[in-house]
Amino acid sequence: MYAPEYPIRTERLLLRPYAPGDVDALHAYHRLPDVVRYLSTGPRSRADVQAIVAERAVARVLTAEGQALCLVAELAASGEVVGDCVLFWRSREHQRGEIGYVFNPAHHGRGLATEAAGALLRLGFEGLGLHRVVARCDARNTASARVMERIGMRREAHFVRNEFLKGEWTDELIYAILRSEWAARQPPG
Ligand SMILES: CC(C)(COP(=O)(O)OP(=O)(O)OC[C@H]1O[C@@H](n2cnc3c(N)ncnc32)[C@H](O)[C@@H]1OP(=O)(O)O)[C@@H](O)C(=O)NCCC(=O)NCCS
Repeated sequence: MYAPEYPIRTERLLLRPYAPGDVDALHAYHRLPDVVRYLSTGPRSRADVQAIVAERAVARVLTAEGQALCLVAELAASGEVVGDCVLFWRSREHQRGEIGYVFNPAHHGRGLATEAAGALLRLGFEGLGLHRVVARCDARNTASARVMERIGMRREAHFVRNEFLKGEWTDELIYAILRSEWAARQPPG
């Protein structure tokens, strides 16, 4: 079993499990068409978000592959919820994981998603002992691809017309980083 110690701290964020009181803050951005533009879901109602919060609140430890750590990102300084992120445990045998993130547009352009994604890599490599972490996005989702590149992930694939999303065929990018590559980027000490 892997049970991280919460909250996980970064320079400006606290990453912690979902709580019932997060519904309004999460709904504030999950309801926006622009936020879900490149996600498989449509804009979410408050009831959708309520159900998600209930479901994800228990996703705080990993006991078997196929599970995920689902975390909310709040500003350490104020406690304001600014985004959410996830670390999937894809394979025990192959020590593979996957990360994802969604942030409130009111807090885009500050490097907060990059900070959270970096913390997810640390969690995956140091905490869970993964060998390889991937992330994927719609090829038009340049903001997401830039986050992956900033944390040192390598673009490994561009799948052409790979998914039928919201009425159209869409291209998908796959990014990845190995534990050795990640370790080489960490400051000494
Ligand atoms: C993907 C998403 C989280 C990226 O958000 P973002 O605000 O671009 O990412 P960050 O918070 O890391 O901010 C990075 C930007 O802030 C700038 N920035 C400012 N201060 C910074 C800092 N201290 N550190 C790093 N970047 C900083 C960067 O230059 C960058 O801008 P640029 O991309 O124009 O160069 C956001 O677009 C989103 O939530 N989209 C909707 C959901 C989604 O598509 N999720 C991904 C699914 S695959």
